[in-house]
Amino acid sequence: MTGRTDEELIAAWAQQPAPLLPLLHAFVERDGFLSDEALRAVAKGLRMPLADLFGTVTFYHHFSREPGGHQAPRVCDGPVCRLVPGYAALAAMPGATTMPCAGRCDEPIPVLKGDAVLTGVGLDSLAQGPSPLPPAYPGNGSECVFAEIRTPERATLAGYRATGGYQALAKARAEGSESILDTLTRSGLAGRGGAGFPTARKWRAVLEADARGGSKTIVCNADEGEPGCFKDRALMDHDPHALIEGMTIAAVATGATVGFIYLRYEYPQTLPILERAIAEAEAAGLLAGFDLMIRRGAGAYVCGEETSLLNSLEGKHPFPRNRPPYPVTHGYEDRPTVVNNVETLCAVPPILVHGGQWYQDLGAGSHAGTKVISLSGDIQRPGNYEVPIGLPLPELLNEWAGGARPGRTIVAATMAGLSGGYIAGEDLTITLDEPALRAKGSFLGAGGIMVFDDSRDIVEISRQAMAFFAHESCGKCFPCRIGTQRLTERLAGTSGPAGFAAWKQEVQDIGETMKATSACGLGVAAPLVTESLVRYFPDKVRRHVDKDAD
Ligand SMILES: Cc1cc2nc3c(=O)[nH]c(=O)nc-3n(C[C@H](O)[C@H](O)[C@H](O)COP(=O)(O)O)c2cc1C
Ligand code: SF4
Repeated sequence: MTGRTDEELIAAWAQQPAPLLPLLHAFVERDGFLSDEALRAVAKGLRMPLADLFGTVTFYHHFSREPGGHQAPRVCDGPVCRLVPGYAALAAMPGATTMPCAGRCDEPIPVLKGDAVLTGVGLDSLAQGPSPLPPAYPGNGSECVFAEIRTPERATLAGYRATGGYQALAKARAEGSESILDTLTRSGLAGRGGAGFPTARKWRAVLEADARGGSKTIVCNADEGEPGCFKDRALMDHDPHALIEGMTIAAVATGATVGFIYLRYEYPQTLPILERAIAEAEAAGLLAGFDLMIRRGAGAYVCGEETSLLNSLEGKHPFPRNRPPYPVTHGYEDRPTVVNNVETLCAVPPILVHGGQWYQDLGAGSHAGTKVISLSGDIQRPGNYEVPIGLPLPELLNEWAGGARPGRTIVAATMAGLSGGYIAGEDLTITLDEPALRAKGSFLGAGGIMVFDDSRDIVEISRQAMAFFAHESCGKCFPCRIGTQRLTERLAGTSGPAGFAAWKQEVQDIGETMKATSACGLGVAAPLVTESLVRYFPDKVRRHVDKDAD
């Protein structure tokens, strides 16, 4: 790309679908930042108002507007990385800024520099390497999405085919939509990206929706911005064809002809892996009429919310959309669209091969299927574990992952990354399924679990969590925009009513208002952090707020 003129860059992208993000990335790649001239050229080339483009570009974290910005180090300041002793030194390196959790909690601390992700616990140890494979399966049952991921060469077309790859797609093409949807309905597969919506129902809605003269679209949500989540990276890095096969089956089932993988910016090493796999699948004639493209995000947690993601793809300001209408009828370019998480799509091929009942039966007790848990923090063996839904949490923590660090006791585990708040105390014996977790005011969501032991300051960790939500709130609705700020301040102890009782009442009021009136899941989930903190650790909060209580 280096050396191409503005006109050449614009000509290369302007007629492509969803051109804004790749065009901006192309300018960054050429110049090392986004200059005023580049913005003017892009606004003119894509016929968009310069003020709108400026607002959109500056919304994202990683579109640097300063010369050299692309190469400046960005250090992860996620909840797990901050606990690593080398964090302060890395964050203080010359020219460095911090970035929200970059999805490498299993190998802290990631530092993004240009298109490389280095990891290490200090300046001397920073190096680039592949994503860790999931640890060897420690369970008694069997896995679904990880069943073949450790097989050497699985990421290549030949290796994927040697382990049964693309058989499901052939079956899907032979048997058609109704058969695919029946199998998925029987499997009980529900979204693995957070909201848990039944996959077959989503696909049927798109199948039955009128495309109104346009095309239907499959979008893979690979934004994985939830702190503590890193499962989609492992799946894409080690099993990219499973994702491509899952998306192509979704296209067959719904009649879609266009597909996008929306890949989070912080996973630059995943990009060539996906590009190579798509090229291999295309060359082998496997996509047949399904036009599959990758679009890189630019760093914004809210872009993982599906309607914000669609606005981002379309080059609009990435605010979440008001719903209804839903993406199944009015998604990408207002046409019927499936938005699914990476893990959801990767589960589809094995389900079609083995059958819906097989997947149902992988769950524990009456629960259907499996869930990948990204486990990190104060635990002996962090990593991605595919668990039967309904597995007791102590079994995962102690038997699968080796338990607490020597001499320490686990006191809290986050759920759904940060979005489900904490599970703590006697509730740490809970089973990992939505009904059990919902009964405790939490949820499994995307499956990130960060573990904290008795050496940690849980109030300070909560302040950092709320500061993340405040930073990432898109600002569209004020209960979330202001509520996340106020909660951060209350957790910092820098303002608010004196005395624990009044503090608690105010924090509860703010949280309830946010949950009742926020327009998207960010504002609804953020107060779960304060709610669960106060519920499980009242004495620690009291000591923090009301210094006299010591
Ligand atoms: C603030 C926010 C961030 C989200 N981030 C992601 C994400 O990174 N990846 C994802 O798959 N879903 C994310 N979601 C959920 C999506 O909106 C959507 O439910 C999901 O992509 C649908 O796919 P699924 O049905 O396969 O889970 C997020 C939701 C919210 C509210
Ligand atoms: S809840 Fe927060 S992130 Fe979601 S739309 Fe409102 S302000 Fe934006």
